[in-house]
Amino acid sequence: MYDIIRQLEEKRDAARLGGGQRRIDAQHKRGKLTARERIELLLDPGTFEEWDMFVEHRCTEFGMADQRIPGDGVVTGYGTINGRVVFVFSQDFTVFGGSLSGAHAEKICKIMDHAMKVGAPVIGLNDSGGARIQEGVASLAGYADVFQRNVLASGVIPQISVIMGPCAGGAVYSPAMTDFIFMVKDSSYMFVTGPEVVKTVTHEDVTQEELGGAMTHSTKSGVADWAFDNDVQGLLAVRRFINFLPSNNREQSPIRPTPDPADRIEPALDTLVPPNPNKPYDMKELIFKVLDDYEFVELKPDYAKNIIIGFGRMEGSTVGIVANQPLVLAGCLDIKSSLKAARFVRFCDCFNIPIITFVDVPGFLPGTDQEYGGIIKHGAKLLYAFAEATVPKITLITRKAYGGAYDVMSSKHLRGDVNFAWPTAEIAVMGSKGAVEIIFRQEIRDAALIAERTEVYRTKFSNPFIAGSRGFIDDVIMPRATRTRICRSLNMLKNKKLENPWRKHGNIPL
Ligand code: HXC
Repeated sequence: MYDIIRQLEEKRDAARLGGGQRRIDAQHKRGKLTARERIELLLDPGTFEEWDMFVEHRCTEFGMADQRIPGDGVVTGYGTINGRVVFVFSQDFTVFGGSLSGAHAEKICKIMDHAMKVGAPVIGLNDSGGARIQEGVASLAGYADVFQRNVLASGVIPQISVIMGPCAGGAVYSPAMTDFIFMVKDSSYMFVTGPEVVKTVTHEDVTQEELGGAMTHSTKSGVADWAFDNDVQGLLAVRRFINFLPSNNREQSPIRPTPDPADRIEPALDTLVPPNPNKPYDMKELIFKVLDDYEFVELKPDYAKNIIIGFGRMEGSTVGIVANQPLVLAGCLDIKSSLKAARFVRFCDCFNIPIITFVDVPGFLPGTDQEYGGIIKHGAKLLYAFAEATVPKITLITRKAYGGAYDVMSSKHLRGDVNFAWPTAEIAVMGSKGAVEIIFRQEIRDAALIAERTEVYRTKFSNPFIAGSRGFIDDVIMPRATRTRICRSLNMLKNKKLENPWRKHGNIPL
């Protein structure tokens, strides 16, 4: 018995030491934590239940028979975050560069299968050199097994990827299929082909960081939702973030009681929209003033800034916010912003999170770039996402809601439950000047006449009352009372039941 216990302890020590002190020191030198240190920071203290610590690879080629490290480069198990169960895998770069063997993949698949059975989120901490080269196709098979599970878990349990080191080649496709990707600046990168291959094929000189670092993916490609300064900041942020999400698609997000009154009045909102319709203002001011405790967690804050997405709470319950940002591109919808918002709307809909949409949109961005890039299809994704969503949907038009973009932005016609407008709303086919120039193209040459007719058009059409008279707007509300009116609407919608017709799945314009 003592012998077994001694052996057990030896094996545990070997697993804990991973690839050895030298490699742990190298990891620290790069400003990175080890796989186990990361799990400790992520989970509530003392709650981690580790599984498969004794799993080893089965490879005998290339001298691998003599190199076996218990755990095989990934630490897996479950624990709690603020008392709620989450499953986690954390790749250990000190063991064969965190590369994925058949056994390594089986460990990840095991926790994913359990997470599905009990309905708990999976958080993957990625730090890996990719497919275990010595294993060949067994490793590729392992990736595919993980991919398949990512897809089946999509929309059932939240899946979060934190990229904390290399993530290259086909390995990027597992994080890509999860709901959120967070990256750490200067120590993580993601790309399908690395700088050397890029150089050979396209003759471009590009560094790892430029090609696939955290800044690239959080500002240029939109692959990452956030970029963190370091491991500690990232892991603590994931702990806070997960509080906004339910554990699975059959549950509601946890409620966080707040002393912030639902009937809080915000007089400053009455003057948020400037009298000049061409003058921008910051939509974030409205978002912060409406949400509980002025707290808003924005996703992709540095990508497609003409649309804002993120989570907040109203009377303690999570809500998803989608808002045009007049400060950037006048709040126009374009390819990037449509994609950014569409995926977010679908996430909220999968996980029972009501969507609040703030609208100030002059239309879709014109130009060959947009048309050649397929704005027709990409804009349709946002339309599709709003239209298929069955969660409570509340929309507020603050100023412009022009043309097709009016329809797209969670309008009444796409089953918006409660659609409000501020008195400053202008709901029309297009802006007054553009409309006058088209309607009176033959007659008008004179600038003064254009201005005069524009004013007539504005008074007649650029207001919320015509839409109101058709019931497309449920009420025109005072800006200061926005929080109260939305809170009441959300309460009214608590037991909303709406189902789409049965189908295998829809065919979103991909
Ligand atoms: C086996 C690997 C490995 C791998 C790294 N190591 N990657 N072992 N398979 N894929 C080992 C190294 O031999 C080394 O072992 C240790 O991990 C650390 O690696 P270093 O190279 O010393 O570290 P660093 O300089 O930081 O470079 C990291 C790296 C580099 C950029 C990730 O190791 C690298 O380029 N690795 C190969 C990447 C790759 O081509 N992977 C396959 C991609 S294709 P020692 O014993 O010296 O510590 C792929 C297909 C997936 O992943 C398909 C899915 C569909």
